[in-house]
Amino acid sequence: MRAVPIKPLKPWFQTIDDTGLALNWCEFFGNTQPVELDIGCGRGLFLFNAAVTTPGTNFLGLEIDYREGRRTATRLMKRDLKNARVIGGDCRTVLSKLIAPESVAAVHVYFPDPWWKKRHHKRRLFNDEFLLMLTRILQPGGLLHHWTDVADYFEMVLALMERHPQFARCAPPPEREADNDMDYHTSFERKKRKLGLPVYRGLWQRTAQVPDAQASAQQTSVD
Ligand SMILES: C[S@@+](CC[C@H](N)C(=O)[O-])C[C@H]1O[C@@H](n2cnc3c(N)ncnc32)[C@H](O)[C@@H]1O
Repeated sequence: MRAVPIKPLKPWFQTIDDTGLALNWCEFFGNTQPVELDIGCGRGLFLFNAAVTTPGTNFLGLEIDYREGRRTATRLMKRDLKNARVIGGDCRTVLSKLIAPESVAAVHVYFPDPWWKKRHHKRRLFNDEFLLMLTRILQPGGLLHHWTDVADYFEMVLALMERHPQFARCAPPPEREADNDMDYHTSFERKKRKLGLPVYRGLWQRTAQVPDAQASAQQTSVD
């Protein structure tokens, strides 16, 4: 059987190996617009809509599942969107190694994998190390958006954020009725709301000051 050739999707989809070790946003997007990240972008409903409705901002999706990342990138390419890209690979590598300090205006983490079993909770994306990665890359005043349908995950995130005073909690946008079948923020929001499940929304702002102990931990984590 002949192997099916992989569709070239550059620059919409690239792997960590393709991008090299230090991302320069101006070269990467070809402009100086602010950059927002969609971590675990999945099928890219948020990334695509955000890029279309906010052309003055660049959006980068990070997706460990190449098939999903390529599917999202195909939609971006068909529309020839210049302000949206996907990098395939583990977001933690991109966050800790490829992104310059204080160079990101907002981070979106929608419906991260819940890892239901207690013994798997340590695999959850949100933990102290992840928050220190976000602290390093977010500009002071930058925003962290997080939504989930998993009550215990949200409780865990709220407790975690309390331990990180470099993030101040803000009021998230209220839920609104969808106008049509695709009028949802992300594919998972659509799926969960159609099942009648609640969606927990969190919004935090990165404060200007990073407490000393955390600043040195941050420095160590990227050395
Ligand atoms: C439950 S889905 C949510 C997708 C999308 N955010 C949404 O709301 O529809 C979680 C996504 O995160 C991705 N993911 C999980 N761990 C990741 C990691 N370490 N780096 C990048 N993506 C990751 C998964 O492959 C999956 O596409």
